[in-house]
Amino acid sequence: MADVYTNPEKHVVLHNNVKMPILGLGTSHNGGYSHSAVVYALKECGYRHIDTAKRYGCEAYIAKAVKESEVPRDEIFLATKCWPTDYGTIATRNAFNGSCERLGSDYIDLYLLHWPDVPSSVSDRNRLLQETWRTLEVLLDEERVRAIGVSNFLERHLDVILEECSVVPHINQCEFHPFNNPKQLREYCAEKKIQFEGYSPLAKGYALADSTVKAIAKLHRRSPSQILLRWSLQNRIPAIPKSTKVQRVMENGQIFDFTLTEEDNEILDNMAQKLTIMERSTIQHKIDNPLPDGYKLKLVKIPAEP
Ligand SMILES: NC(=O)c1ccc[n+]([C@@H]2O[C@H](COP(=O)([O-])OP(=O)(O)OC[C@H]3O[C@@H](n4cnc5c(N)ncnc54)[C@H](OP(=O)(O)O)[C@@H]3O)[C@@H](O)[C@H]2O)c1
Repeated sequence: MADVYTNPEKHVVLHNNVKMPILGLGTSHNGGYSHSAVVYALKECGYRHIDTAKRYGCEAYIAKAVKESEVPRDEIFLATKCWPTDYGTIATRNAFNGSCERLGSDYIDLYLLHWPDVPSSVSDRNRLLQETWRTLEVLLDEERVRAIGVSNFLERHLDVILEECSVVPHINQCEFHPFNNPKQLREYCAEKKIQFEGYSPLAKGYALADSTVKAIAKLHRRSPSQILLRWSLQNRIPAIPKSTKVQRVMENGQIFDFTLTEEDNEILDNMAQKLTIMERSTIQHKIDNPLPDGYKLKLVKIPAEP
């Protein structure tokens, strides 16, 4: 993937002309964080995009992995997110600075508002979202961040931002796999020039056991994960699969040397919508009853402090 920024198949171009690698490595507090998997992704598999969030509690570990990989910082597209308890002019700037510090970088490539929900105690939610968005615009002006966006925003949430913004979000990162494919939201984003990005592209592994996905994989002599990721790529939707295992990180990166047929895509585009990984209804409780960042994080092979 050394040609990630020169080969148009391997990146998307955001509406401010920033190039974003179409395949990234997910990291999170769910299911563990593996230092060797991140180093291996950068060093041996050519990944140049890492997705994380303050909430996941692993930003400082990513800084270590980036350093160990010896890949220059300016070749890596680093994306992180602001948790709703940090929304607001001052709080968001502080959260951004904290993420930069932990990530060992004075800038971030992509900064996202993690959810459209805000603490229940807030009386004017739209005002808070607009004020927070304004802070991201200022960070963009100051060149502390190369692109700004949102995550888990539906049309009605995007409307709140679009009503007041001077910069249209570059990205909306949402759950996306054949069993959760929000076509109307994707169309809405396309119309507004917001790049739709997908998370949980393997539906946390559940989509890998599907018989249709397995049959397509067999036809192409590929793994089910490669079929799901290739489908996302052929839809021109950035995908950020997560794995703690080096062989799976490699496998997930090998999706640029085969093509799904129109028929395969047609089948995958029209699967029953039966799987939701991130239940929207559980988020408010998590915002109102804050647990520490990275509260579920299990660390695998983190090198000791020097
Ligand atoms: N914005 C948001 O609200 C939000 C929400 C959820 C996720 N995300 C982002 O999206 C990333 C990915 O999402 P996700 O972790 O929920 O789900 P995912 O990438 O769809 O699936 C990850 C799961 O699949 C397994 N796996 C990975 N590659 C595999 C392969 N080739 N064969 C078999 N199993 C494989 C992993 O296990 P092993 O580790 O054991 O390999 C892990 O259990 C996250 O890391 C995060 O960066 C964002």
